[in-house]
Amino acid sequence: MKKFIPVCEPTLRGKELEYVTDAINSGWISSAGKYIQEFEEKFSQYCGVKYGVSCSNGTKAIHLALMAVGIKAGDEVIMPSFTMIGSCNPIVQIGAKPVFVDSELKTWNMDTEQIEKKITTKTKAIMIVHIYGHPVDMDAVLKIARKHNLIVIEDAAEAHGAEYKEKKAGSLGDIACFSFYANKIITTGEGGMVVTNNEKWAEHAKKLRNHFFGEPRFLHQEVGYNYRLTNMQAAIGLAQLERIDELVGARRKNAQLYNSLLKDVPGIKLPVEEPWAKNVYWMYGLVVDKPFPLTMPQLRDELQKRGIETRTFFIGMHKQPAYAHLGVQGDFPNTEYLEKNGFYLPSSSHLTEEEIQYIAKTIKEIYTGQRT
Ligand SMILES: Cc1ncc(COP(=O)(O)O)c(C=O)c1O
Repeated sequence: MKKFIPVCEPTLRGKELEYVTDAINSGWISSAGKYIQEFEEKFSQYCGVKYGVSCSNGTKAIHLALMAVGIKAGDEVIMPSFTMIGSCNPIVQIGAKPVFVDSELKTWNMDTEQIEKKITTKTKAIMIVHIYGHPVDMDAVLKIARKHNLIVIEDAAEAHGAEYKEKKAGSLGDIACFSFYANKIITTGEGGMVVTNNEKWAEHAKKLRNHFFGEPRFLHQEVGYNYRLTNMQAAIGLAQLERIDELVGARRKNAQLYNSLLKDVPGIKLPVEEPWAKNVYWMYGLVVDKPFPLTMPQLRDELQKRGIETRTFFIGMHKQPAYAHLGVQGDFPNTEYLEKNGFYLPSSSHLTEEEIQYIAKTIKEIYTGQRT
């Protein structure tokens, strides 16, 4: 067995090299070419929506989605405090205001019961994030959104293949964003995609992605961006997409094995799967609390010494120095609890059973060793 088990690695074991080589041989190495179109069509189809607009990363996908639906400076967007900053930066960069909602401690997702009281006359959208691959309770979100005429944006960067009541992430709100960073369930190295059933928004996002070229070509109606994905990246994405069921299945199988091995360790809280959810366990997270004899950072240190790389959960958006100017109000006790106690174990799709056995055994040994 490897002496070092990284927290996450891409699984590039399909036709990635073949397709990239083909893209290079064809000379189509920038942002036109057959792989772009095929990747957009097949990924949006996989999600169960009509349109896919690929782009250079997940953060740009969120920026494009926000602009496509018309979020402007001064608007408010309700979103979870417990997320990765890529969810939030595009809101701030537009000049809109993120309004944070605390998490609930079961799924670690935004607490939907706290959304409604955050709505003001400036609220335009709710952005949900399917944290670590567990979908948000969408019926609750959609009910509020429809009542208040708000757009629902899904940040599905961590949730390729996740399902809510048998509908896939990406098809659960009005518009959705994915990341294809190297640690994601499928990857293009760097990359992202906006998916939606709204043709107008998809067309708008497509133009914003590419300098808002117009008719004639060099007449631009809006300030656009260069957020394009390359044909070479899309070639990798297509090869990954061909194996997405296998990759999602592997993540789920790994989680089941972790669950069965760790379920009786006192003080370790495992990730859940609500009855209405298909969790894809993008990252296999744990929450450590009493009576576990070590704190989360101490446990991570012990694991690191034994060749097991881990990563802490997110630090809440409300605490980010970068957002000091926003003057965030309110308390976010669950986000802070998760930050203090949560971390994730190695989660690559190609982890072996032996590696998972070793990791679980090591945690149990640390528990026993420290207790006595
Ligand atoms: C929830 C969430 N949103 C957005 C992003 C941003 O994606 P990218 O890194 O591709 O810009 C990430 C990436 O890790 C993420 O986890």
